[in-house]
Amino acid sequence: MRATQPVWLDEQSGAFHVFRYVEVERVITDFSSFPSQGVCNSILGMDPPQHRSYRNLITCAFTPRTIERLKGRVAEITQALLDEARHKGEMDIVTELAYPLPVTVIAELLGVSPTDQPLFKRWADGLLGQQLSDARLFQPDEQEIQRLGQVHAQMQDYFIALLEERTHAPLDDLISVLLRASTDGKRLSGEEVIEFCKLLLVAGHVTTTDLLSQAIRCFDEHPDVLEQVRKQPELLPGAVEEVLRFASPFWRLTRMTRTEVRLAGTTIPAGTLVFAWLASANRDAEVFPDSERFDITRSPNRHLAFGRGIHFCLGAPLARMETMVALPMILQQLPNVRVIREKPLELFEGEFVFGLKHLPVQ
Ligand code: HEM
Repeated sequence: MRATQPVWLDEQSGAFHVFRYVEVERVITDFSSFPSQGVCNSILGMDPPQHRSYRNLITCAFTPRTIERLKGRVAEITQALLDEARHKGEMDIVTELAYPLPVTVIAELLGVSPTDQPLFKRWADGLLGQQLSDARLFQPDEQEIQRLGQVHAQMQDYFIALLEERTHAPLDDLISVLLRASTDGKRLSGEEVIEFCKLLLVAGHVTTTDLLSQAIRCFDEHPDVLEQVRKQPELLPGAVEEVLRFASPFWRLTRMTRTEVRLAGTTIPAGTLVFAWLASANRDAEVFPDSERFDITRSPNRHLAFGRGIHFCLGAPLARMETMVALPMILQQLPNVRVIREKPLELFEGEFVFGLKHLPVQ
């Protein structure tokens, strides 16, 4: 598609799909022509100036200090998950490590008590289908609406109680920081804090799960690379960036044209949905020479896996840190790690996120 139809109209839905790096980058950064407004209710669906003031408020929750402080906990959680799974001789990297790790980290970051964390994990599963789907394309049936309603109601009640507690007795957790945060005399309302907590659960969960499990899969498919990173751990950061490029967790981002726009010789009418394919842009040979090759020494590696521009992923440092802490521990403690390929790999193909459902290793 990149070569033949870089901007493609899906006649059935009326949406346009964009595949080449240059145009994908334009669509996700040019917020005046391709706003995010209406794509969803969270910060992901905001444009300036609303986006700027909201983002300023929540940025304080993701300082380098916060991330650095979490490192030790990430190692502890990873160790506990490895210990729990390892004695069986076989381990599912996705369900036993890559999936529980980020949700536990987010729960702890927010200040959810350990006893409530199983609940939190259930909500994360429950919200996934809805938040990742575009409001206009996602048409849940009656049963699904009821189920989602229950998840929302439970989370809402839980967070209202937690907010109440933290308002009176603030701690050092993210909820307390968000409640205190203010810029230009503005503060987040309780409702906004809750919305943001829900977004973190979704935005920061399966994406990180994918990154970690795809890293193991890529290493397994490239044994020479696995050997190289074992011998030279300093190559790991480059390897993680290459996994992000090669197996981007977010397939595509959604925008909507404000007015009629010309893109790569194609006219897109005003008010049209545009899908910017990150996964395709990240394989564009115009930008990444020998783009189908998994090359951990690629430099520069200006992949778009975390987006670009004003919506650039706020959790990127956290996702990178979690992966950089967990990967060496996995490689060290499972010295002969090998993906069991006797069964075909099961893929999770969400509307916007893509990854592995299971990754059994020995
Ligand atoms: C935004 C990807 C992990 C929180 C984004 C965007 C992408 C992305 C592509 C841009 C959306 C757009 O332009 O419309 C990823 C990937 C991750 C990851 C691939 C893991 C490998 C995380 C984590 C968190 C997080 C761990 C937090 C706990 C956010 C938030 C935004 C965002 C809050 C919205 C920023 C804004 O609209 O200004 N992410 N993400 N993400 N991400 Fe991530």
